[in-house]
Amino acid sequence: MIDLRDLVREDGQHLFAWRREPEVNRWMCDQPPETQAVHERWLDGLLADPDRRGWIITRSGSPAGFLMLSGLTNCNRRAEWGWYIGDPDARGRGVGRAAQALGLDKAFDELGLEKVWAEVLAENEAALKAQGAAGFRREGYLRSHALKDGEFRDVVLLAILAEEWRARRASVRKSLAGSHLIAA
Ligand SMILES: CC(C)(COP(=O)(O)OP(=O)(O)OC[C@H]1O[C@@H](n2cnc3c(N)ncnc32)[C@H](O)[C@@H]1OP(=O)(O)O)[C@@H](O)C(=O)NCCC(=O)NCCS
Repeated sequence: MIDLRDLVREDGQHLFAWRREPEVNRWMCDQPPETQAVHERWLDGLLADPDRRGWIITRSGSPAGFLMLSGLTNCNRRAEWGWYIGDPDARGRGVGRAAQALGLDKAFDELGLEKVWAEVLAENEAALKAQGAAGFRREGYLRSHALKDGEFRDVVLLAILAEEWRARRASVRKSLAGSHLIAA
């Protein structure tokens, strides 16, 4: 079963390892923390920041990934979505799709957002597929938008509105429950 729980300080070690893992780093627009101290400053900032909220994605109770919404205090009720499955064994097994459904419930029902948006590197097939399946729509294509490892990369701008998630939620949750990824 997949779940989300609030991020706590003790999750720092997992996040530090995951963020530096090559398959995660490959798809991030920014650079991973070089040292534990830099990472801890980032984590302390996140935990104290009302503008951002992070959750640990758990798989059968064990930490498997991270999900974050940023921009929660802006006046537009819109937040940026960021996520990864840090545990390599958990990737490609529906964990991302399940965590995404739980995260969108948090965004729209618990936090009352109107819109969630994401920037995804254009070659990131897994993220584009997973987010498309939940109802994220393509709102833009940003050429040479991210400088990653010395190379300018194209980025796809995706977004989903509260009403779009509400229209799709039941069918997404039904298919995830059928695969025993989340409770029915
Ligand atoms: C993107 C990510 C969160 C998706 O989570 P996941 O648990 O691996 O994905 P799921 O198993 O839920 O599958 C989601 C979809 O992606 C597809 N997919 C999964 N891995 C894939 C891969 N390596 N290549 C192409 N498609 C892939 C699945 O087939 C599925 O599509 P479908 O619903 O049409 O069958 C995860 O792969 C990940 O963390 N990747 C590295 C970091 C990253 O890219 N983060 C997102 C940055 S925007």
